Amino acid sequence: MSTAFEHPTYNYKVVRQFAIMTVVWGIVGMTLGVILAAQLVWPELNLGLPWTSFGRLRPLHTNAVIFAFGGSALFATSYYVVQRTCQVRLISDKLAAFTFWGYQAVILCAVVTLPLGLTEVKEYAELEWPIDILLAVVWVTYAAVFLGTIKVRKTSHIYVANWFFAAFILTVAVLHIVNSAALPVTATYSISIYSGAIDAMVQWWYGHNAVGFFLTAGFLGMMYYFVPKQAERPVYSYRLSIVHFWALIMVYMWAGPHHLHYTALPNWAQSLGMVMSIILLAPSWGGMINGMMTLSGAWHKLRTDPTLRFLVVALSFYGMSTFEGPMMAVKTVNALSHYTDWTIGHVHAGALGWVAMITIGSMYHLIPRLFGRTEMYSVKLVAVHFWLATIGTVLYIAAMWVNGILQGLMWRAINEDGTLMYTFVETVEASGPGYIVRLIGGLFWVTGMLIMAVNVAMTVKGSAKSGAPLPQTA
Ligand code: HEM
Ligand code: HEM
Repeated sequence: MSTAFEHPTYNYKVVRQFAIMTVVWGIVGMTLGVILAAQLVWPELNLGLPWTSFGRLRPLHTNAVIFAFGGSALFATSYYVVQRTCQVRLISDKLAAFTFWGYQAVILCAVVTLPLGLTEVKEYAELEWPIDILLAVVWVTYAAVFLGTIKVRKTSHIYVANWFFAAFILTVAVLHIVNSAALPVTATYSISIYSGAIDAMVQWWYGHNAVGFFLTAGFLGMMYYFVPKQAERPVYSYRLSIVHFWALIMVYMWAGPHHLHYTALPNWAQSLGMVMSIILLAPSWGGMINGMMTLSGAWHKLRTDPTLRFLVVALSFYGMSTFEGPMMAVKTVNALSHYTDWTIGHVHAGALGWVAMITIGSMYHLIPRLFGRTEMYSVKLVAVHFWLATIGTVLYIAAMWVNGILQGLMWRAINEDGTLMYTFVETVEASGPGYIVRLIGGLFWVTGMLIMAVNVAMTVKGSAKSGAPLPQTA
């Protein structure tokens, strides 16, 4: 990379590396999602091979989108935000570089081992023990770089975005290390040290907090920096952001059992999970409202600024999925939604609508600044991407709501003599049209990401040509 881009004070190299990989992994992960969506329409696309079967590509998709795409975005933005708001360089360029290469190595290991069927069979924690250990080392280094930078800050105050990033980094370290505890049998096989209902509880304590801290707290950190920056307005209520932070992290920890309703888990634990999930609506909406209200007096900017549109629509989907989640956590609702495509729709309302949208909005703010430009090569292409992503998300989640409720109702329908009204195959057949609509939504998304890649490439190329030095303020 040309030295023309080097910032005199901050380490932007590692931020640029993670930002570019965000776009690359976004394309890879979402393309895998489209392949899975197509396999559910045409099962022949499994190709009759074990490596390309749905069961093996599905965890590859989740790892690629959550950890590779989402994770790279979180690294990029947290390293950028901590430097700018603490007004110091990362404490160690070498350790920061290690987190980049180490993290990419973990992802490459996932790309190789998951299609081979090497897995610990824990959702979102599939990777086998040697890779888990590498990830733990990388993550602890990340914590040291991030928290060490906060420690040597030149400002007296720690800006709220850093609180969210710090909570995400620390909690993910604890979750990963505890949930991955296993007895190695061979280099590629291990057995969890937990068993039975306890194994399930630990797994969903991990799984739900992966949602709460990886897919939520980290991205809220992004929101608290990039929404005010892009809107050129201060955060609506700084006091609310602090209440939001403490309430969110205190409540999330207890909600995991809503993933285990009507299982061998003790009933009281299920009810606790349900109640805590309903309470979780309040801090979630507190954060959403704080982000939205930050636009007070700046709403007109939405007409001309597609980057801001990405950020605001992300907040709307965040509000929607955190309303839907508590509702699905109610046991009687979960009796209908569990095992159906409704869950998949909820996941992607959060994953595409919130996580991917806030990431892309943040990247469109960040990438030009990292490469010495004031805006992206083409703002028009950002607008095209915005519409493709928004329409794609709506198609995806609407199709899954219809499918989910249809499946739930068909499965529970009984004849007068108590026998089931529909066979399982009939419910699969009825889901066909919804799967086609979801596939179209996915294709919209991937097209949008490819347009983003071209726009980013042209932005980088343009800056290489001009050799413009980085602006001192962002
Ligand atoms: C082009 C965009 C995408 C498409 C077409 C897509 C498609 C799919 C499909 C077909 C499945 C399997 C559903 C099933 O088993 O019935 C799936 C699962 C999943 N996807 Fe995506 N996906 C996309 C983007 C994303 C993104 C960006 C994220 C996260 C940031 C994500 C997170 C997940 C998760 C967590 C699951 C597992 C859900 C569960 O087990 O309940 N996806 N996706
Ligand atoms: C107040 C906030 C939220 C609550 C209370 C909540 C609640 C729930 C519930 C009840 C389920 C279904 C469990 C089941 O029947 O198996 C679920 C699944 C899921 N939710 Fe949420 N949700 C919330 C927000 C979010 C957000 C913002 C995302 C983010 C991206 C998200 C991602 C997921 C994922 C990935 C699953 C599927 C887990 C699996 O079975 O693999 N949730 N959530």
